[in-house]
Amino acid sequence: MPKDRKRVTTQRLQELKVRGTPITMLTAYDYTSARILDRAGVDVLLVGDSASNVMAGHETTLPITMDQMIYHAQCVVRGVERALIVVDLPFGSYQGNSKEALVSAIRVMKEAGAHAVKLEGGEVVVQTIQRILDAGIPVMGHLGLTPQRIYQFGTYKVRAQEEDEAERLVRDAGLLQQAGCFATVLEKIPAALASRVTKELTIPTIGIGAGPGCDGQVLVTHDMLGLTTEFHPRFVRRYAELADIIHAAVERYCSDIRSRAFPTDDESY
Ligand code: KIV
Repeated sequence: MPKDRKRVTTQRLQELKVRGTPITMLTAYDYTSARILDRAGVDVLLVGDSASNVMAGHETTLPITMDQMIYHAQCVVRGVERALIVVDLPFGSYQGNSKEALVSAIRVMKEAGAHAVKLEGGEVVVQTIQRILDAGIPVMGHLGLTPQRIYQFGTYKVRAQEEDEAERLVRDAGLLQQAGCFATVLEKIPAALASRVTKELTIPTIGIGAGPGCDGQVLVTHDMLGLTTEFHPRFVRRYAELADIIHAAVERYCSDIRSRAFPTDDESY
């Protein structure tokens, strides 16, 4: 755990980039987990719209609503003392026009107590990002594989492998920085391209499936803890096998009840 328990700010992330200290980021959706992750020293907690997949069991991130994101964010905020809390604007809450996007971002900040919002896309959302920033709300970008566009992409495979998409991504990253984003996620793009973008930008890049050249890394917590068992992409390193541990514990619990080994007199009043 870092000795410095001071609240992480967007300025602090900038300092980490300048110093060459890698930024740590994980997803969080509930109070109990957020508290554990925060105490373990994660710099940024993302209330990701991946909650749609890992919390609600949907196939994509599209169905999650604004009210559901706000509920998850409120739970996370209550558990966190140090980390910067970034909340995803869900699909449909910012694509219509920049005024709707601003209303969504304000809801996330006001009703959940978030510190920043994240939204997906490059040039097409730059005006929207500017409007949100003008209201004093920090924005994190998200380029590369942007899951809210999965039906347009048709596949979760690596993005920007062809030169024209790679060049567009480099341009988009520059536009996000110019607009005032404090950082950007780079998801599932070639490592060399992520390194190039990281070198060209002065704001931090946070990679997921984008190689070691980014300023920081993010994973979906359920994936890195082995809670999701059917998802094994190359970029996820599993730091625990919690599904197996929970399975074994619950089997023992059921067995103890059935054999009347639980509860004992010591566990009774
Ligand atoms: O929703 C999410 O979990 C994300 C990360 C994959 C970056 O956006």
